[in-house]
Amino acid sequence: MPKSSDILERILVLEMVRVTEAAAVSASKLIGRGDEKAADAAAVEAMRAALNGLDVCGTVVIGEGERDEAPMLFIGEKVGHGCEGESPEIDIALDPLEGTTITAKAGANALAVLAIAEKGNLLNAPDVYMDKLAVGPGYSDNIIDLNKSVTENVTAVANEKGVAPADIIVCVLDRPRHEKIISELREIGCGIMLIPDGDVAGVIATTDEETTVDMYMGSGGAPEGVLAAAALRCVGGQFKGRLTFRNDDERKRAHKWGIEDLDKVYDLKELAKGDVIFAATGVTDGSLLEGVKKLRNGIMTTESVVMRASSGTVRWVKSEHRG
Ligand code: FBP
Repeated sequence: MPKSSDILERILVLEMVRVTEAAAVSASKLIGRGDEKAADAAAVEAMRAALNGLDVCGTVVIGEGERDEAPMLFIGEKVGHGCEGESPEIDIALDPLEGTTITAKAGANALAVLAIAEKGNLLNAPDVYMDKLAVGPGYSDNIIDLNKSVTENVTAVANEKGVAPADIIVCVLDRPRHEKIISELREIGCGIMLIPDGDVAGVIATTDEETTVDMYMGSGGAPEGVLAAAALRCVGGQFKGRLTFRNDDERKRAHKWGIEDLDKVYDLKELAKGDVIFAATGVTDGSLLEGVKKLRNGIMTTESVVMRASSGTVRWVKSEHRG
């Protein structure tokens, strides 16, 4: 078996992009068709086929759900054709279509997303909500704190940025459950970017100065939290996440995946440790990536990003697909 430090070396980052491109191209055929399930199914099928073409022995740790509810890319499914031989063992977090409703409605920021790490390095997050707090790179460690109020967090970030708290821009998922956060932000006078869906892109937006988003706040899917953390491990920024449970069934699910401390606040490295590679391809146009385009000559174009934690390298990949 290869040394664990060499494991990800053997996986070409381009292979990751091929996988997210395949999912995005496939989902793009359903953009604006009002059918979330069909769009998701198309992305899942294409991503699974592309993953199975890789010479790796992968285990899906963040996927489409538990085995009994997801026929493909379920948690625990083995992918890649290398499990019989000497291929590297990796853990995979994926969301073939992050933003199913966005895609169905032809909105902004739907992505096909994939992260890989050496075995055991991605949190097996159950499919529950997670309280999330994120800020871009360049701030002192632990500047954000899930146990502090919205005002305290905004003020801390504003002070270090050298601006008034009212000048801070915060991205929040537009949900009734975020009413309190939004009204506290309004009292401070912050700019609020309310997004209808897609908090992986929302969290990543804090790392990109062009988006002008300083912070991300609010609860969303825990699996999406691990994917966003994987991206931030590569490009910098801070993220805090705490699982939230609506009932005993959800608590049981967490125990099943080995989570004992249900109130734990997770840091970036507790969600995605070691050398992580993150890849995403735009399905619809968004702040991070252009969506899939079909040109008049039938050629499809995609834009993707692939980044790696150990080197901090970020590669932008524009592709043309013929046939
Ligand atoms: P899907 O692509 O699975 O529909 O997820 C979209 C999303 O907006 C995520 O980005 C976010 O984490 C989650 O849904 C929020 O969940 P809810 O819609 O229940 O508030």
